[in-house]
Amino acid sequence: MKEKLEIPPAEMRALGYRVVDLIVDHYASLNENIVGAKGDPAVLRPLFRQAPPRDPAPADEIFARVERDVLPYIMNICHPRFFAFVPGPSNFVSVMADALAAGFNVFNGSWLGGSGPAALELAVIEWFREWCGFPEEAGGLFVSGGSMANLTALATARHAKLNDRCERAVLYYSDQTHSSVDRALGVIGFLPEQIRRLPADASFRLSMDALARAVANDRAAGLQPFAVIANAGTTNTGAIDPLREIAAFCRAENLWMHVDGAYGAAAVICQRGRELLDGIALADSLSFDPHKWLFQTVECGCVLLRDAARMKATYRIMPEYLADVHRNVTEVNPCDYGIQLTRGFRALKVWMSMQFFGLDAFRAAVERGFVLAEYAEAKLRTMPCWEIVTPAQMGIVTFARRGGDDAFYARMHEAMLRDGYALATSTVLNGRTVLRLCTINPRTSEEDLRRTIEWLDALAESG
Ligand SMILES: Cc1ncc(COP(=O)(O)O)c(C=O)c1O
Repeated sequence: MKEKLEIPPAEMRALGYRVVDLIVDHYASLNENIVGAKGDPAVLRPLFRQAPPRDPAPADEIFARVERDVLPYIMNICHPRFFAFVPGPSNFVSVMADALAAGFNVFNGSWLGGSGPAALELAVIEWFREWCGFPEEAGGLFVSGGSMANLTALATARHAKLNDRCERAVLYYSDQTHSSVDRALGVIGFLPEQIRRLPADASFRLSMDALARAVANDRAAGLQPFAVIANAGTTNTGAIDPLREIAAFCRAENLWMHVDGAYGAAAVICQRGRELLDGIALADSLSFDPHKWLFQTVECGCVLLRDAARMKATYRIMPEYLADVHRNVTEVNPCDYGIQLTRGFRALKVWMSMQFFGLDAFRAAVERGFVLAEYAEAKLRTMPCWEIVTPAQMGIVTFARRGGDDAFYARMHEAMLRDGYALATSTVLNGRTVLRLCTINPRTSEEDLRRTIEWLDALAESG
């Protein structure tokens, strides 16, 4: 059987149960465990620097190595005290959906390859379309994450508005915009001199005055203003750009409006988020990551286009070997709407976990992210050594140690990693290093936060 790469069903089951047991134990013990660990490259890399064995290794040995040398050296981004970057507080149903999608090795690139999966993906995209208030003709695609969503959307914009000729085109966004936008623009052929990274206002939002001035200057210089990228929740502070005003400006100036909601757009499902994200419905394109604030496992990103036909116009290619895929026009082929042909079945996890928990649970879970950040802010305000730099917004609060310099934050980082109780990471705002808590994990308790803040204070005192 080995040369067919097959194992008997009983052995498959044993292997599967072993994996499930590992995952369940992991989830069940997260709270008692450290938030994760970072290994030393000099120690970890040699452990794996071997050719693959010619002959089979025993399963026990394989699992032992994975459990000893691999899994302990991750940051548990769904740990209730992981407050760094943007956490990934996934849910167990999503994990099992991934297992099903992998187990059936679903090819979600064409209707022919997987009509059930394609129909389900379209239905989930339809949920997103409605939540974001996009019109009927809108559509979209599951992608790996926000970076790919930004790339997919911006290449569509380039095709739709510039017919892919971008020599004189200029794009505008605030200096708080995620680096994946810079990278996407580089990939699709924009040069740094075509990008206006405008200084954000005092609240870290795109300044309408700066935007209007920059567009007018570029027009006067004979350039071709092309697109504005707005943030629906910046990674640094959770700031939301003035979406409605940007939309009106884009309409008036005939500019494409892309909204990077990779982090924040999921908040539209709750009342508070919907109010804060007013204007998101007016975007031409939107990035939205279920693997962030919609509690899915990585990888799960999504891109929505106000007019789905534009995606097809950008991406559809019909080679001879896919003729059978394209015979029936009523069938939707996901590969026509983006960069990947072979693609996994990411929509299943969103669909299954929504069915399992119900939308109200997701709403409450998002809402909790707001409340936890407010709790953290209130707690920090009672501690004289800390100063709030940006108040809680969209589940993010930033704060600084009075008198803390860069060396202090570097020491804090090392101390946090050494101890492992929790993790917060730093960022830089207006040239000043600050700490940042992103509290979007609904399984974080107020107690977790209180203790984390007191622990940070103790680390700061001792260090
Ligand atoms: C606002 C924003 N955009 C884009 C991204 C990139 O998303 P991904 O890491 O899923 O590619 C992030 C990641 O945190 C983000 O916060």
